[in-house]
Amino acid sequence: MAKSYRIAVIPGDGTGPEVIREALKALDAASQKAGFSTEKVHFDLGGERYLRTGEILPEGAIDDLGKFDAILLGAIGHPDVKPGILEKGLLLQLRFKLDQYINLRPVILYPGVETPLKDKGPDDINFTVVRENTEGLYTGAGGFLRKDTPHEVAVQESINTRFGAERCIRFAFDFCRKRNYRKKLTLCGKTNVLTYAFDLWQRAFNDVAKEYPDVQTDYAHVDAICMWMIKNPEWFDVIVTDNMFGDIITDLGAMIQGGLGIAAGGNINPNGVSMFEPIGGSAPKYAGLNIINPVAAIAAAQMMLEHLGETGAAGLIEDAIKRVVSRDLKSLSAGRMGYSTTEVGDLAVKYIIR
Ligand code: IPM
Ligand code: MN
Repeated sequence: MAKSYRIAVIPGDGTGPEVIREALKALDAASQKAGFSTEKVHFDLGGERYLRTGEILPEGAIDDLGKFDAILLGAIGHPDVKPGILEKGLLLQLRFKLDQYINLRPVILYPGVETPLKDKGPDDINFTVVRENTEGLYTGAGGFLRKDTPHEVAVQESINTRFGAERCIRFAFDFCRKRNYRKKLTLCGKTNVLTYAFDLWQRAFNDVAKEYPDVQTDYAHVDAICMWMIKNPEWFDVIVTDNMFGDIITDLGAMIQGGLGIAAGGNINPNGVSMFEPIGGSAPKYAGLNIINPVAAIAAAQMMLEHLGETGAAGLIEDAIKRVVSRDLKSLSAGRMGYSTTEVGDLAVKYIIR
């Protein structure tokens, strides 16, 4: 019997449902061609549901999601919901509770895609950021003291465990070795100021490095790396960093690879259920207009297939993306592609089944 995967689909908010629809079209085309099938179960989670029912993450949802082979997520975020509620209550809960301790963000400039970096091309922009995804400033540790008084205090702590840093660093070394590209892993931190957190990271990094003599190591402060990513992106192969710095530098990465229209990421639990998403967010102003670029969501489906070990099907999607962005799209930005969201999905499917 042909192989089948169970995929949980969370279309989510804003343009999420529109881009997920196209990603599923590409997924179906690629799986059919590669000879396996997928069973998809949709989960109604996000801002709409919260406003309708007051529920963010219903009882049992995490357990249910934990039984799937992978999760495909559209976007979380709603203009009528106060910032932080859905992000912390839903997206971060999924990452934490499913222990998706890696946020994997490839930054690859495809031929024919415009980058804002002068004189840089596909050979220069090809690296991956491995972001720690369960600790740091994201845990919610901290609180208010004397809130709403002139003497108010707000503490927001960065939690760094040796266990958490080390498993992330080890994943990054493994990934760098398997990727077998420049064989260079750069630790991104701030050892000159955050002398506790990144001291721990640096020591863990140096210790794990001993197990990977074939991988060259490097270090850059986070501020400097923002500079080097613009000036000399060709220096990077794999970058490993904490949750907050990884969040920031991967938006920068998205811009140099052509923008949020193409950037995808994976929330990886190497021993559990991983979740893949376009990183552009819910883009409420474009919702329902059929003008958002679905390529990032299609790329998320590609990453999901790679993760599931379906490299053939993943390759079909990647080739289709390359064709669409280099031959067809006038721009990767919403409303300026020269095609509708649906048409871009149709083009991808055409190249996949060809
Ligand atoms: C991302 C997003 C999230 C993050 C937000 C929406 C909580 O920016 O996936 O990078 O900060 O991790
Ligand atoms: Mn972000």
